[in-house]
Amino acid sequence: MSNRITLIGLGAMGRAMAATWATAGHEVTVWNRTQGRARDLDVHEAATPEEAVEASELVVVCVLDYEATYAVLPPGSLAGRTVVQLTTGTPNQAREMATWVTGHGASYVDGGVMATPPLVGRPGALVFYSGEKQAFHTSEPALTALGEARYVGEDPGRAALYDLALLSAMYGMFGGIDHALALGASEHIPAPELLPMVHDWLRAMLRAVPPDLDPEVEYASLRMQAANYGTLLTASREQGVRTDLVAPMGELLHRAVAAGPGHSLPDLLAVRS
Ligand SMILES: NC(=O)c1ccc[n+]([C@@H]2O[C@H](COP(=O)([O-])OP(=O)(O)OC[C@H]3O[C@@H](n4cnc5c(N)ncnc54)[C@H](OP(=O)(O)O)[C@@H]3O)[C@@H](O)[C@H]2O)c1
Repeated sequence: MSNRITLIGLGAMGRAMAATWATAGHEVTVWNRTQGRARDLDVHEAATPEEAVEASELVVVCVLDYEATYAVLPPGSLAGRTVVQLTTGTPNQAREMATWVTGHGASYVDGGVMATPPLVGRPGALVFYSGEKQAFHTSEPALTALGEARYVGEDPGRAALYDLALLSAMYGMFGGIDHALALGASEHIPAPELLPMVHDWLRAMLRAVPPDLDPEVEYASLRMQAANYGTLLTASREQGVRTDLVAPMGELLHRAVAAGPGHSLPDLLAVRS
């Protein structure tokens, strides 16, 4: 594959990708719904999506959502291309798009970006990919410039699932941090004082829950955790802090205690048909 890359979408993430590829020496053609966003980048801005797609075999999309992707990708120009979709979506959206793209004669790889724009191209940036294996390997040298390119399987929906699973862990953590800051604020403890403690505590807790944790060993009983969690909720109400972000965890802990041994919390979250 040549070193040409077409990128559709120049939002915060697309601009970081375009700049990274340009710096790495790729010949980058871009198109964005609002023109002019490439002025400060060392890339060629195409006048139409058709012109952009026709410029490179590798076509990367990074727009707001899948609806926007369908709106911008010109189906008549896709034949013979590899489309790499780096827009966040659901596994089903990825599978549907794979069918749509391959139906127009192109190869399809879906991706989930685990980085913020300033992290793109730097150590720690990770992108999950899934879909057509050969197309991924052919595009891999270009994709690796964005960060570690981790291929997770031929099912095009798989990368989205990993992406959203990690995102849900992140938002759960952010929700907890927001609640912690609100509790602190209820007694005029400023965020800059509390945040370093939150960081240290989370790091210590991550060490206490190693990746190879034995689920059979009970480090802290669920009954104790449910009781402690009740205290956290009561204290929050007493301090005038809403419990919207944290209350569902309390309900889950009570369900786990009621269900008895052998029921993990993730198990209890599964909706059974
Ligand atoms: N930013 C992050 O930290 C981050 C991290 C991981 C993954 N992502 C994912 O990367 C994708 C892009 O995020 P972003 O931060 O770049 O978002 P953004 O800054 O809000 O940019 C959105 C992009 O989508 C385009 N767009 C929106 N609606 C459109 C439509 N109906 N038709 C055509 N183009 C449309 C916008 O074009 P205009 O310029 O014309 O509005 C712009 O290029 C998202 O799926 C996001 O989940 C972002």
